[in-house]
Amino acid sequence: MNNILYIQCSPKTAGSHSGQFAQEFVKGLSKALPAKNVVLRDLSNAPIPHVNSQHTLASEKPESMRTAAEQEALQLSDTLIAELEATDVLVIATPMHNYTVPSVLKAWIDHVVRAHRTIKLTPQGKVGLIGDKRTYIIVSSGGHHTRQPAWQPDFLTPYLTEILRTVGITSIEFIYLEAMNHGPEAAKYAVAQARLHTDEILAKLAN
Ligand SMILES: Cc1cc2nc3c(=O)[nH]c(=O)nc-3n(C[C@H](O)[C@H](O)[C@H](O)COP(=O)(O)O)c2cc1C
Repeated sequence: MNNILYIQCSPKTAGSHSGQFAQEFVKGLSKALPAKNVVLRDLSNAPIPHVNSQHTLASEKPESMRTAAEQEALQLSDTLIAELEATDVLVIATPMHNYTVPSVLKAWIDHVVRAHRTIKLTPQGKVGLIGDKRTYIIVSSGGHHTRQPAWQPDFLTPYLTEILRTVGITSIEFIYLEAMNHGPEAAKYAVAQARLHTDEILAKLAN
């Protein structure tokens, strides 16, 4: 099987640090698994809209009580959820924006993390209804955030870890491209470090 869903999140439609690196990684991953299908959800070239009033009202109603217009309002959400459910491996390539995820990735999350569909609300909290998937998240950032002392806070890593866990995805590995805006030498070093990490991942998969 081994279907890959690859989500590209940079607003740059060309020359994205995260996108360029992830494309190379997805190629290696397809070969190592091997993958049957790679589905690209290209939020760079085709950003999705934020959830709106119709979406919100429709999602709060039980499915059997929705009108045709309300079903229609959830169609994009249904499509994005079906893409996620159908995949075995998830790859997200994203820049850090203002210490967290870019708004287009947040929009995708708001469509996919949906009460009564991908999460069940219980007295003990939210229970994820999407099974676990091997997940790789490539994060590019202008500065450093993992080393100590960090140059800035990182709300992206804990947020993505927690929100994916909410739908049931816990097998997550982050690959960082840090200090990409600290000059060409720093960017070259970051790419080399990230490549060591992905080579290790691909070698493990191939064994
Ligand atoms: C709106 C915006 C906000 C940004 N915020 C941060 C930030 O909080 N921390 C950081 O290190 N870099 C920040 N950057 C820089 C990008 O994360 C960095 O250039 C990254 O490598 C871009 O990746 P991309 O080429 O895949 O879009 C920001 C860039 C933009 C456009």
